[in-house]
Amino acid sequence: MPLDTTTKDGDFPIPAGVFAETVTSVERFTDRLFKFRITRPASFRFRSGEFVMIGLPNAEKPVFRAYSIASPSWDEELEFYSIKVPNGPLTKHLQRIKVGDTVLMRKKPTGTLVNDALLPGKRLWMFSTGTGIAPFASLIRDPETYQKFDEVILTHTCREVAELRYGQELVAHTKNDPLVGEFAQSLRHYCTVTREDYPLQGRITDLMASGKVFDDLGLPPITPETDRGMICGSMDMLRDTKTALEGFGLVEGANNRPDTFVVERAFVD
Ligand code: A2P
Repeated sequence: MPLDTTTKDGDFPIPAGVFAETVTSVERFTDRLFKFRITRPASFRFRSGEFVMIGLPNAEKPVFRAYSIASPSWDEELEFYSIKVPNGPLTKHLQRIKVGDTVLMRKKPTGTLVNDALLPGKRLWMFSTGTGIAPFASLIRDPETYQKFDEVILTHTCREVAELRYGQELVAHTKNDPLVGEFAQSLRHYCTVTREDYPLQGRITDLMASGKVFDDLGLPPITPETDRGMICGSMDMLRDTKTALEGFGLVEGANNRPDTFVVERAFVD
């Protein structure tokens, strides 16, 4: 039997051209949100903020979905942050993974939420909702982000307070990290909740329109002279946040055409 069709675990062969990696840890945050870490293939290179297609070896033709890599490019393992999508063909199985299981990963990472796609600026705004925080979990742990921008602001909006925990723990760990902690002292984390009581409430789009987010942070409103943006969330959130940034005069960029903001889609099912 050729090597690339050898069954590593379970009944189905590993498809050719994908990495088969081992789960090293799983942590659950709510009944729907969990993070997991897998071994990193020695030959796998990516830029912080990129995503990759992942699947499980549970079918002849496994379902693959795009997942932002939540760990920085220097990390020895790869981290992912996932939500259980109702009836999602991948996440209905993925939500049950445990240490030692195999996760499949296609070999080519891609994405536009990378520092290279932005022109230099003073202040980087990272706008996220729900699991859209994942690519920023990577970028806030990359020293390059702080070398390129004097100030970094991560906004995270969720429906419920419990859904903020992954980001809150991440930011706390990052500030204490021996490698990036010193750089990350300039990182600001602005969390809001929309469907429960919380000190800061509301959608980030509304908080930008009213100016409240700028007042809360003691910052001037966004301008193309100093500010850069990255956006990750649901399709509706991407559209509305993009409109808000364009209202401030920012222009969408891409890898081959860096500009003042970039947009990503991070759907898992
Ligand atoms: P809301 O509770 O008002 O819908 P979801 O789980 O649907 O992706 O939502 C995650 C968070 O993103 C929620 O707090 C939600 O607020 C917010 N949100 C949803 N749609 C938008 C949008 N178009 N613009 C900004 N925030 C949004």
